[in-house]
Amino acid sequence: EKQGHDWFMRKEIFEQPKAVADTLLGRWSDRGELVLDELRISPEELRRINKIVIVACGSSFYAGMVAKYAIEHWTRVACEVELASEFRYRDPIIDPMTLVVTISQSGETADTLMAIRHAREQQARVIAICNTNGATIPRESDAVIYTHAGPEIGVASTKGFLTQVVACYLLGLYLAQVRGMKYGDEVHAIVDELNSMPDKIQAVLDGIEPVYKLARKMAMSEDAVFFLGRHVGYPVALEGALKLKEIAYLHAEGFAAGELKHGPIAVIEQDTPVFVVVPPEGRDQLHDKVVSNIEEIRARGARTIVLAEEGDAAAESFADMVIPLPKCSTLLQPLVAAVPLQAFACELATAKGHDVDQPRNLAKSVTVE
Ligand code: M6R
Repeated sequence: EKQGHDWFMRKEIFEQPKAVADTLLGRWSDRGELVLDELRISPEELRRINKIVIVACGSSFYAGMVAKYAIEHWTRVACEVELASEFRYRDPIIDPMTLVVTISQSGETADTLMAIRHAREQQARVIAICNTNGATIPRESDAVIYTHAGPEIGVASTKGFLTQVVACYLLGLYLAQVRGMKYGDEVHAIVDELNSMPDKIQAVLDGIEPVYKLARKMAMSEDAVFFLGRHVGYPVALEGALKLKEIAYLHAEGFAAGELKHGPIAVIEQDTPVFVVVPPEGRDQLHDKVVSNIEEIRARGARTIVLAEEGDAAAESFADMVIPLPKCSTLLQPLVAAVPLQAFACELATAKGHDVDQPRNLAKSVTVE
């Protein structure tokens, strides 16, 4: 049932083009409008919402961090993201105008469940983004968007994460459409781009061999590994680090690239491996800022492994290794940038001889608080 792969995790990494296509399937009406059939909250109610709060744990929380950038940009509704375990215990400000979005692959995570129970007690409306039909979290929510990724067996989330990000984009675009926001007009173009993402993810997988080679080489050292990103690349960096901690048992940290000078740059030594997620070149300064971060850490001896759009000469000039990413807009880049980091962790853990699907101390769904 691993379909020729050594691990469920690897199988699930390679299933991602299909999983993402399945999340996107059947979401458009004949009139070219986004439809979220399962969303049993009326457009009127969604127009009244004045704040969105996303609650989740682990990788699902990082998917929520990506979502915040997209949802705020497209809808202009303020969106917070919070760890479910923190949310519940700090008396959060929520009311009937708050839309709580909860993200959970399993739909059984205790911290997340407690958070939505609390939100519903405050009369907030709750939408669950979930991969498991009929699980407790969607049952206790007002509405659900299923990710349709198929069962995820590996403890380290891969296709679960990617499809959660897609479902969050769908929700953001739907809200923009319903609320008639400026970006409502752009929904079409973004949807077209979303539909092209499965092929782009496939292209990343087709070119994965150099990433595997790097992983096998790095499996021979116990060096800490760092991940840098900015904007939506920041949660991708956090996700890359989490994968490595979970299955390779390595010290791995993700940082916001802009925070380097505020502390983390002190840990950079000669040959410290640092992955950097570079946003596409564009109108804003994001790209150039990250490129100058690469220059800074390289000057201090870091071994830079740069994930950048193919043909990005500026980023390549400071890279010890380049992992090329297909062209796409900044907001959608996590869908291609996360994939090599998952594959890297899987291969490195395999080379170290670990049980990739069932890493030590971890359970697939954490049903105690
Ligand atoms: O099932 P959930 O999405 O609620 O799970 C949340 C986390 O426990 C989960 O993402 C965990 O961090 C994974 N092992 C990450 O790979």
